[in-house]
Amino acid sequence: MLLKKSAVLSVLVMVALLFVFSFSALAQEGEVEIFSWWTGGGEEEGLNALIELFNEQYPDVEVINATVAGGAGSNAKAVLKTRMVGGNPPDSFQVHGGAELVDTYVETGMMEPITGLLEEWGVKDKFNQQILEMSSYEGEYYSIPVNVHRSNIMFYNNQVLSENNVEPPTDLASFKEALAKLDEAGVVPLALGDTNKWPAGQIFETLLVATLGPDGYNGLWDGSTAPDDPAVREALVHFKDIMQYVNEDHSALTWQDATQLVNEGEAGFNIMGDWAEGYLKTLGWTPGEEFGWTPVPGSEGTFIVVTDTFGLPKGAPHPENAKKWLKIISSKAGQDTFNPIKGSIPARLDADKSKYDPYLTSAMEDFASDTLAPSIVHGSAAPEGFITAMNDTINSFITTGDVDQAFKSFQQNYEEYVQ
Ligand code: GAL
Repeated sequence: MLLKKSAVLSVLVMVALLFVFSFSALAQEGEVEIFSWWTGGGEEEGLNALIELFNEQYPDVEVINATVAGGAGSNAKAVLKTRMVGGNPPDSFQVHGGAELVDTYVETGMMEPITGLLEEWGVKDKFNQQILEMSSYEGEYYSIPVNVHRSNIMFYNNQVLSENNVEPPTDLASFKEALAKLDEAGVVPLALGDTNKWPAGQIFETLLVATLGPDGYNGLWDGSTAPDDPAVREALVHFKDIMQYVNEDHSALTWQDATQLVNEGEAGFNIMGDWAEGYLKTLGWTPGEEFGWTPVPGSEGTFIVVTDTFGLPKGAPHPENAKKWLKIISSKAGQDTFNPIKGSIPARLDADKSKYDPYLTSAMEDFASDTLAPSIVHGSAAPEGFITAMNDTINSFITTGDVDQAFKSFQQNYEEYVQ
């Protein structure tokens, strides 16, 4: 009798366990984990809009929005790498096209090719091919660009400029004059927030384009420009001049804090990728009204590309759902939902232009006519080791002001990681 009772009990336990297991398996089938660092103003709103669109089309799949805060992936990239190397990939993740994707995850065999999907969905030819190519390796594509951001852009507070009789600068000389004028008036001329080192490195990359020109800058990555080119030193000299005019507490601030200084009228200019435009809009500003923009002086005619892409890691727990996510981001509706909020332009060429504000419309025009150049700091031009080393060099250069030392260490970094 006793035996019988325990047998019944164990059957019951097994049934209960089976129920729990099959239920959780079902629940898992209905998930897709999307990993990114989009938690800041503008970024978060853009991502949420994309998730909403996904939910409308796939109501049975729950998006697990896995974010790790920190601009430009300053924390997320390390977390992602640990997960990928440890065999615990998300279903899809934000990654910059170019070296960041290819060197880190494709060459190491961690990504599935997705060329077949692009063909099946008939979208391959819809993209700007130069941007799409940044996600390719040995004849296959490995990720889909959801956007194109610009790194060499500068935003300014219209009221601060007009109250101080400062015209938007057109070249580096007039930029320095404008900075000096604001400084005399007691306004922070240039807002910087480099508590994570990349925003200073980003200013430097825009100055490299200004002094080397687009071809010289692009030549650094195909070996036709040498790292000891005098124009590299010249960029450092400009950088040093400009750094006299940043807020004193720059190393304690994030990129959003710096953008906010402009928004609050504490500062005149902010050199920042155009995700700052997305952020300014969430702060209630309208492009062209409260703020204006210009390419970083000296870099007009070049569009430094920052492209966020998503792919399919090998061993993704829900590959079919990941493909649904990729289909959404590759669609015209996906791109036109995300980008007007994010402050980026679509990587597809058939956007509905009426959805884009005056800043983004002007960015689309520049993108169509400018020479494109990959961003260093945002992962596309050079390996990760170089980015970290260059950002370190530039940040200690702010403190030391030693041009020759910084020039030498730029060359050493280049020799170690790029050549
Ligand atoms: C970039 C990324 C942008 C934006 C920015 C600030 O690396 O491509 O989408 O998120 O960082 O976080």
